[in-house]
Amino acid sequence: MEPHRPVLLVVIASTRPGRVGLPVGTWVSERARAHGAFEVRIADLAEVALPLLDEPHHPRLQRYEHEHTKRWSATVGGADAFAFVAPEYNHGIAAPLKNALDYLNLEWRRKPAGIVSYGGVSAGLRAAGQLKQVLAALQVVPVGGGVPIPMIGQRVADGVVDANELMEKAVDAMLDELATWHGALAPLRGG
Ligand SMILES: Cc1cc2nc3c(=O)[nH]c(=O)nc-3n(C[C@H](O)[C@H](O)[C@H](O)COP(=O)(O)O)c2cc1C
Repeated sequence: MEPHRPVLLVVIASTRPGRVGLPVGTWVSERARAHGAFEVRIADLAEVALPLLDEPHHPRLQRYEHEHTKRWSATVGGADAFAFVAPEYNHGIAAPLKNALDYLNLEWRRKPAGIVSYGGVSAGLRAAGQLKQVLAALQVVPVGGGVPIPMIGQRVADGVVDANELMEKAVDAMLDELATWHGALAPLRGG
């Protein structure tokens, strides 16, 4: 029998029709499956389809009233590590991602996260910086240098990512770091 592997949740943060987030998320997931350290699951926020936060109580209390929140709680709670696939919108974090983060609290806690950011010349680094600030509030540990992809429009053709060597090395290094940090953080979650 295959040994139990930690679960990596690849969170695709953009939701608009025609987004490159889907090909980038697919590329990250394939790379993660080939890496082998994780059982890889995908949370496509377009499919998760959370409304703007509509829970009456602070998420730390976990007194969720809506089915969509309970489902999202189970998805995030069942993960051991995250890879956020995050575009930069107006020099900042994409709204669907911020909303999805705000929905929950303890489900994120003491888990490592890698950030695959993308945009124009900025490579999404301003969005990644903002994302790290939010992750700190949730006690999520961002690992390594992440995977910043500049000029994303030139790297996606016909819905497929054309990765260069730099991108492949960066994503593999991120996966190595996630596996290492998982080993360090899992005991802090009580097993
Ligand atoms: C609303 C919006 C705002 C954007 N703002 C930025 C930006 O601040 N910096 C940047 O590098 N690219 C920006 N872009 C270009 C995006 O990097 C590019 O469109 C990318 O494909 C967006 O990711 P998505 O296709 O997954 O939605 C913006 C795109 C949109 C739609």
